[in-house]
Amino acid sequence: MNRRELLGGASAAWFAMGLEGVRGLAETATADELRVGVIGPGSRGQELILQLLHVPGVRIAAICDIYEPRYAQVNRLVGAEVATTKDYRDLLDRKDLDVIYVATPLAHHAEHVLAALKTGRPVYGEKAMGFTPEQCREIYAAATKPGTLFQIGHQYRYAPWVRAAVEQVKKGKIGEPTHVYAYWHRNNDWRRQVPSPDPGGKLEHLINWRLYRETSGGLLTELGSHHIDIANWVFDAIPERATGMTSIVRFHDGRTVGDNVQAVFSYPGGRRLMFSSLTDNAKMGNELWIYGTEGSVAITIEDATFYYEPKARIKPAEEGEQVAKHGITTGASYSTKGEMPYRGPGEKLRVPVTEDPTLTACRAFIECVRTKRQPLADARVGYGSAIAAAIANRAVYEEQGIRVPALPA
Ligand SMILES: NC(=O)c1ccc[n+]([C@@H]2O[C@H](COP(=O)([O-])OP(=O)(O)OC[C@H]3O[C@@H](n4cnc5c(N)ncnc54)[C@H](O)[C@@H]3O)[C@@H](O)[C@H]2O)c1
Repeated sequence: MNRRELLGGASAAWFAMGLEGVRGLAETATADELRVGVIGPGSRGQELILQLLHVPGVRIAAICDIYEPRYAQVNRLVGAEVATTKDYRDLLDRKDLDVIYVATPLAHHAEHVLAALKTGRPVYGEKAMGFTPEQCREIYAAATKPGTLFQIGHQYRYAPWVRAAVEQVKKGKIGEPTHVYAYWHRNNDWRRQVPSPDPGGKLEHLINWRLYRETSGGLLTELGSHHIDIANWVFDAIPERATGMTSIVRFHDGRTVGDNVQAVFSYPGGRRLMFSSLTDNAKMGNELWIYGTEGSVAITIEDATFYYEPKARIKPAEEGEQVAKHGITTGASYSTKGEMPYRGPGEKLRVPVTEDPTLTACRAFIECVRTKRQPLADARVGYGSAIAAAIANRAVYEEQGIRVPALPA
């Protein structure tokens, strides 16, 4: 029995208990320490490390990054000297690692996740699963092989208020959900500071990889993949087609991805997701609305609030019904009655939130490693949002509608 097999049988199934049970279970876990290797401990990788420090029985044992300043940052975070390398193959060759986290930029996910999966270790891969449709398919195939454990970094799948809102929607609380409108609006240039000098712009491309098409799916993938994932969850499907547009309206600073994007995704049955991202107006913030025939729910990064359609609005028009307004008598479609937006508080979902969803996602992943269970945010979840984002980016650049390939059989 090797180290991983020994650790695998350690504790009970959290899936059977639901997410509520995860905290207590992880806190009382007595199994041997799990040793984690992290490829790409930049900002997200360090957030994952920070959260993993709260998971009992886990040690950050080694990191791989081509940018040396990360080493000291991680040591500071962990409070100990962590083994380092610039080559992910050296990290994967280590015999003392049980689990691999991959948090490199999108264009490297396929190389790093595929190599990590090949070692047979459980892998937590940051979203989006792959950059191109081909990479998404390749990772999906590798991550669904029997005996493989892969979790995608869609932590909102583990956020209690998102889970509760989606569950309520699925139980019919807002009637039939037909549309998701998702906004991720900011008012900043999405740039990171680059140390100078920077000969050849190498650091600019390493640090601001999000701003260049060769390495990034732009706002659509970086931000929109979370919203696509929630729409996929609500509709129990992945989109069939995607279309959209992008432009640079404010930040003419050498970037090659748009500083705004609007994309439309169509799902089976004519249902739709509309995603918008702006970087010059933050009024809407990060807000996802699920619209149903009897109500709506607004999900933010902190809470969820339900609103209900007044009964009158769903009353079918009666034969020959006429409306008189400003002395004009016409059909019901002329009337603006009931078209002022509702300004009231809505009905806030009361769900206890005790920790960051990334911590819950990490706890859940570690528990899956120990119990050999498949995660909620599995390869199927990862494929669904990544393939839709990859296709939507093509559609946006070509300004046409493109079919999204179905989940591989
Ligand atoms: N789930 C979430 O909410 C969330 C939030 C932020 C970022 N992310 C994802 O995390 C990933 C990383 O984003 P980030 O903001 O941390 O980027 P980042 O640039 O801050 O970090 C990436 C790190 O990878 C390193 N790196 C680059 N190429 C490498 C290579 N070939 N080998 C080893 N290391 C390499 C970089 O030096 C850097 O330290 C992205 O896929 C992003 O979409 C997810």
